[in-house]
Amino acid sequence: MPEQSRELLDKLKELEQEFNDSLNNLTSDKEVEELRVQYLGRKGKLAEIMDKLPNLPAEERPTFGKTANEIKSRLKDAVEAKQKELEKSVAEQDFSQFDYTLPGRRPWQGSVHPVSQVLDEICSVFEKIGFDIVTGPEIETDFYNFEALNIPQNHPARDMQDTLYVTESLVLRTHTSPLQIRTMLGQTPPVAAIAPGKVYRRDADLTHSPMFHQIEGFLADTGVTMAELRGTLTYFVQSIFSSNTRVRFRPSFFPFTEPSAEVDISCVICNGSGKVNNEPCRVCSQTGWVEILGCGMIDPQVFKAVNYDPEIYSGFAFGLGVERVAMLKYGIDDLRLFFDNDLRFLNQFNRLPAS
Ligand code: PHE
Repeated sequence: MPEQSRELLDKLKELEQEFNDSLNNLTSDKEVEELRVQYLGRKGKLAEIMDKLPNLPAEERPTFGKTANEIKSRLKDAVEAKQKELEKSVAEQDFSQFDYTLPGRRPWQGSVHPVSQVLDEICSVFEKIGFDIVTGPEIETDFYNFEALNIPQNHPARDMQDTLYVTESLVLRTHTSPLQIRTMLGQTPPVAAIAPGKVYRRDADLTHSPMFHQIEGFLADTGVTMAELRGTLTYFVQSIFSSNTRVRFRPSFFPFTEPSAEVDISCVICNGSGKVNNEPCRVCSQTGWVEILGCGMIDPQVFKAVNYDPEIYSGFAFGLGVERVAMLKYGIDDLRLFFDNDLRFLNQFNRLPAS
């Protein structure tokens, strides 16, 4: 056989030998695939030798080509056989290593966040006495968040809430009170609703977070008085805390209620005594009372903004912080715990059976 052809054929045989030796040592599909590409791929070792075919004298090409094709198909068969062998051994291996006597593993299971639990609980307390649940956008217009609530532009009342502006006329809502306007604009009295949701303020420390949850409650009808407000809030507080929790109103100011009040409840930690085990109660600073929400009778200006005649209708509104209620309910002193997502904290509120 002529010299050139012989040289190439020797290379082919070497290549086949080398390929088989490597293939024998492989233990994974991935390695087999890499080897296949390395030898049989478009730019692989076999293609490299085949590229030399045109250099051979014409009469030698057919014999060489035939041998090369035979080798190529042997390599392909070997790859396939190896793949099958690996598949089989994996199946056998898994089967033999499966220990039926091991106990089962309980999968991780999520649970409802404590803030959501308290929020749901508060909503169901109000649903029971006929309040609807309404929701609205977290990016709010200046009109709903401020103007319609009797907080005019450039008025010092705006300073009450450190606001995060999106544009000049769009804000991240600073409270859930815009839902009073949205709901009343769409309905005629009687209206009774609560509006839970996230609110945002430029504020962050031990007891303030830039995002927190509020629940707004409001009722508008004929002949509504502050006595109904007091009765409703007492029912709410006693449902959430305990039936002997007391309620006290302190005069306050909100632009959208008149008169306005802040509501304190008897401290749920020391039961209003100001002392825990003869030590000063830290939750209420010994006063026996803790602040829980703001409220009041809906201001006639607000009724005008939603086209209710203030001579005919009256109503009350209140707004409470959900995290604050949760902190009082569970005796938590750092608000940030709610947002750190530390499972050691969160798991304590897991109502599912212990694993
Ligand atoms: N919107 C008030 C706040 O966020 C709370 C409030 C609501 C007060 C309704 C009175 C009536 O501070």
